[in-house]
Amino acid sequence: MDVDIVKKAFADHFEGQCAVYASPGRINLIGEHTDYNGGFVFPGAVDCGIVAAILPNGLDKVRAYSVDMNESAEFGLKEEDAPQQGWAKYIFGVCREMAKLGVEVKGFDCAFAGDVPLGAGMSSSAALESTFAYAINDLFAGNKIDKFALAKVGQMTEHHYVGVNCGIMDQFASVFGKKGNLMRLDCRSMEFEYFPFDPQGYKLLLVNSVVKHELVDSPYNKRRESCERVAKALGVETLRDAEAEDLERIKDEISEEDYKRAKYVIGEKQRVLDVCDALIKGDYETVGARMYQTHWGMSKDYEVSCEELDFLAELAEKCGVTGARIMGGGFGGCTINLVKEELYDDFVSAAKREFAAKYGHEPKIYDVVISDGARRLE
Ligand code: GLA
Repeated sequence: MDVDIVKKAFADHFEGQCAVYASPGRINLIGEHTDYNGGFVFPGAVDCGIVAAILPNGLDKVRAYSVDMNESAEFGLKEEDAPQQGWAKYIFGVCREMAKLGVEVKGFDCAFAGDVPLGAGMSSSAALESTFAYAINDLFAGNKIDKFALAKVGQMTEHHYVGVNCGIMDQFASVFGKKGNLMRLDCRSMEFEYFPFDPQGYKLLLVNSVVKHELVDSPYNKRRESCERVAKALGVETLRDAEAEDLERIKDEISEEDYKRAKYVIGEKQRVLDVCDALIKGDYETVGARMYQTHWGMSKDYEVSCEELDFLAELAEKCGVTGARIMGGGFGGCTINLVKEELYDDFVSAAKREFAAKYGHEPKIYDVVISDGARRLE
């Protein structure tokens, strides 16, 4: 994250002494599509994210400059003032959601840039939301809004201003991230624990297919609706409260598609718990086995994978990688891989070579560095 570029962009477009804020993207070891089902997730913040230089401008409008898009936007702070640019909607949404919490959000100037690969399933949008939620809390609310509420502001921005009915995982991870630690969050009670993560002899890496499939018809929201229908049919609040036997009992009353969606979610709930136990024992073979199970559950039952990601998961298994799976919401993006150090180089070259031979371009490889969450830098 390049602070100097952002400060320079601020100085080129605006005047005055800005404050600088940053928030990261995230990885998720396991627990996918469980957050909005009241289940568990196991994310960590990463060392890439969004940096923003911000200064209140004494006006009743926001003037924003995106370094990456080389675009400016200007908008007021009332509900009817929504900007046109997609990226500016996130900032506007955060301002509106903070205002709904009673914060007197005033106008500001800002320049920002990011280095979370877009479309990789690493939550660049949560990084953007968390950066602005954190900054607005610091600049206009004396930091009185607690961190959970800040994460929720990002999530509600997605629901109300972007149109994605996401869960809380991404914004939670971006706000609460802690260097060297994963976090196990219970998305029903919102209790969480930090898990120091330093798998001796293993590395965690992401293989980005650089493929992004169109989310026509908002398949993410449709998955969520399937889960909600099954929960309703079972008479429970969320699928967190359902077991495999319950699902079998109502199998004939629900569509085959909804059945498959719920089957994946119910299985995933247990897999996260298994992984936590295995990590405590240092049993990485079990961690890896669960990751593969998640991958194929997401591919065959939840149907959020794609050919390229299935190829990468299969290739990982062929190369002896301990665990691999699609990460994030799906429909393109990365696999997350737990690989023994001695296999790392061979796997990376095989992934590049074989993926390129089949799909015409190399995947991008990132080593995972678990880092801190939202903060003020200067
Ligand atoms: C996206 C959403 C999250 C979560 C994941 C899948 O990243 O924003 O809330 O549902 O997909 O686990």
